[in-house]
Amino acid sequence: MQIEQSKTQYLFSDLRGNFISSEISATIQSFLVIENSYIAAAREITTKLENLNDEFKITADRQPIHQIKTRIKTPRSIIDKVIRIGCELNIQSVKEQLNDIAGVRVICSYIDDIYTLADLLVKQDDVELLRTRDYIKDPKPNGYRSLHLVVTVPVFLSKSTERVKVEVQIRTVAMDFWASLEHELVYKLAGEKSHAMIAELRECAEIIAQTDVRMQKLHKAIRAAPENG
Ligand code: GTP
Ligand code: MG
Repeated sequence: MQIEQSKTQYLFSDLRGNFISSEISATIQSFLVIENSYIAAAREITTKLENLNDEFKITADRQPIHQIKTRIKTPRSIIDKVIRIGCELNIQSVKEQLNDIAGVRVICSYIDDIYTLADLLVKQDDVELLRTRDYIKDPKPNGYRSLHLVVTVPVFLSKSTERVKVEVQIRTVAMDFWASLEHELVYKLAGEKSHAMIAELRECAEIIAQTDVRMQKLHKAIRAAPENG
């Protein structure tokens, strides 16, 4: 697993007091401090999930997590979203309004793994659940499926402890396959999508969802077979 690093620190690494005012220097410093707390929060969530995954390896002889990816929103995309949602551009309101500055995407093998991991994560004493969006039970009109949680975790800093938000997206390998390609296709498609394209993408999502259900059943049947007991 690769831990997300600061995407911005290098921008400031060769700026020294001689070139910039102390006020700008302090602003940069406070930005890096905040970014660091989001990196730390994403790392904590990742560690919690990895610990659960390792425990499953011992107790159930299988690992429900296929892959974990983390990402921290770039300043550019924070500003784009602030403009899009019409929130004020100051630290307090950005912290309050944006749920996805730190993002952790968890790719699981089976649908049941998604709900098991979500339950085990939010049950932990230091994890607070702020919001759940279940796009598996209620897929988006375009066919998008995933379980989205917004949680906070405490980040212990030298002078304070802060609760920091993390958006956790949990999905199967199959759901991730569709979402990744859909994202790429829609990104490349600068203009309007035709009705036929929208319908085609949705149909692909449905076929993939049916396959997920079949694979889940197969997995249960194989686990239940006496020779595997
Ligand atoms: P954003 O402003 O996009 O973050 O949306 P939101 O705050 O209303 O949250 P939502 O739970 O709807 O979606 C958040 C994230 O889920 C997005 O940033 C994407 O990573 C992912 N997502 C949501 N809808 C889609 C979709 O239709 N296709 C793909 N590929 N990803 C999606
Ligand atoms: Mg987002």
